[in-house]
Amino acid sequence: EINIDIDEQTRQAAAQKLKIGVYFATWWSLNVIFNIYNKKVLNAFPFPWLTSTLSLAAGSLIMLVSWASRIAEAPKTDMDFWKALFPVALAHTIGHVAATVSMSKVAVSFTHIIKSSEPAFSVLVSTFLLGESFPMPVYLSLLPIIGGCALAAVTELNFNLVGLMGAMISNLAFVFRNIFSKRGMSKGKSVGGMNYYACLSIMSLLILTPFAIAVEGPQVWAVGWKNAVAQIGPHFVWWVVAQSVFYHLYNQVSYMSLNEISPLTFSVGNTMKRVSVIVSSIIIFHTQVQPVNAVGAAIAILGTFLYSQVIKIFNFLSI
Ligand code: 3PG
Repeated sequence: EINIDIDEQTRQAAAQKLKIGVYFATWWSLNVIFNIYNKKVLNAFPFPWLTSTLSLAAGSLIMLVSWASRIAEAPKTDMDFWKALFPVALAHTIGHVAATVSMSKVAVSFTHIIKSSEPAFSVLVSTFLLGESFPMPVYLSLLPIIGGCALAAVTELNFNLVGLMGAMISNLAFVFRNIFSKRGMSKGKSVGGMNYYACLSIMSLLILTPFAIAVEGPQVWAVGWKNAVAQIGPHFVWWVVAQSVFYHLYNQVSYMSLNEISPLTFSVGNTMKRVSVIVSSIIIFHTQVQPVNAVGAAIAILGTFLYSQVIKIFNFLSI
């Protein structure tokens, strides 16, 4: 009897591992596809405020149609849920648009190298803004991340200040998004990963649209679109569709996996995801990298792994 229980437990643990493995593989592949189409679009049509808005619009549309046609069950929400969602959506909007502005100015790989330091931002925000303190080894484990990113930034061949700042703002915004969503998820009605992300997209779309119109606007979009179609051909529209739909899909899968794993496992998974984005974008866009630049990126990413181990040892699983 005991043997059967153990067998059953091992089987369940293996099934859970397999499920998370499938989630991660899907999340990473969808993200690579998003990043490639997003950059292809930005190269021909440098309007990141519009492309960010379209990504949120595609997600909102997909989910509204899924709810209306009952492919997915619509969530039961109340006012408290939407109130708690607002700061999360605001941070998601800022983080998303800032990353896209960054990618419109620099190589995709550079944005993602800087974004691999998001865990370090978590510790710094908790320390300086929330007044928490951590053991010395936690702070020391940030040094390779910060040092690696700094080395990668100073040796970056296509360095651009807006590109750097965009990625840094995105890191800061996403740290707040995580803090607010942890606080908010316990308020109001509880909504599962897929529908939670759908509501987040809809609210972010409402926040971002007026700003996108104010910063860029229909006139420049119309001229830019004509130029892009003249340069690429009519199939340019499919690149835009691909970047928008894949943005929604990878985020949806990432929120579905967040339901199953700890925030720490999630953020390690997110950093490892960047390795596949960095490598594939360097190959596809023929990005020039100097050896010392690659060393900086490798130190930053290994640093994140080291940091996650230190966090685990000291049991600060909440950041
Ligand atoms: C975005 O557009 O939101 C960026 O690509 C950053 O997203 P990530 O942190 O999920 O990679």
